[in-house]
Amino acid sequence: MDWGLRNRISRILQPADGRTVMLAVDHGYFLGPTHRLEKPRATIAPLLPYADAIMLTRGVLRTSVDPDADKPMVLRVSGGTSVLQEDLSHETITTSVKEALRLNATAVALSIFVGAPHEHESIVNLAHLVNEAEEFGLPVLAVTAVGKELEKRDARYLSLACRIAAEHGARLVKTYYCEGFHKVAESCPVPVIIAGGPKLETDLDALEMTRDALEAGAVGVDMGRNIWQHDTPVPMIRAVRAIVHEKATVKEAAALLKEKGKR
Ligand code: R5P
Repeated sequence: MDWGLRNRISRILQPADGRTVMLAVDHGYFLGPTHRLEKPRATIAPLLPYADAIMLTRGVLRTSVDPDADKPMVLRVSGGTSVLQEDLSHETITTSVKEALRLNATAVALSIFVGAPHEHESIVNLAHLVNEAEEFGLPVLAVTAVGKELEKRDARYLSLACRIAAEHGARLVKTYYCEGFHKVAESCPVPVIIAGGPKLETDLDALEMTRDALEAGAVGVDMGRNIWQHDTPVPMIRAVRAIVHEKATVKEAAALLKEKGKR
């Protein structure tokens, strides 16, 4: 692996433990002003110090993150559809590799939609993006998106989708946690990171999911709604961080949510 590529990946997966806490704030690219992400700068600013990397679009990067922020940016470069469509799989590459380099992105990210009507285009998008991005040592993170079909999130489907992403050259894969997740992680030859998905009912649900995913082989989280839709987002990201990087138990992490004065 080239030095540049390795260096970029090591900015995301922390060299001390090979793990990561990514903050996902790219939801607006198809969801518009998502609840509690209406003003991206206000959502991102207090969380920035606790994230290892941020996943976002170029629009939010330019408008809502100061250029002196010393954090790796994982730029979402796919899009082209909105939540108003039944089928969300009709995506294309919306941001060029040249633009990603101009923005000093550390990695680029796109979604693939295995089994969806536009499966073919999304997988070919991945392959072409890898061809282009790797020329510049830019790693590609593939997201195994399920669109509105959240019920697809089982080990059989996610193993298939993650493996396809890795086979086409993704250096990192982001997917969902599911029962039997070790099968997903074991059959994917590149590091797997989990998304949080829609906000879970309780804090413990989100913290237990984080712990279970790590125990089953994930290298970290790229979490959005379970952090910034929480009533106290800073303690929540600190709690997730404690599990990912500090070997905290769920109980120890949950105690951080009760600390006063850090909202
Ligand atoms: C999905 O639209 C985005 O790629 C998000 O980055 C991803 O789903 C992670 O965010 P959340 O934890 O809210 O699911």
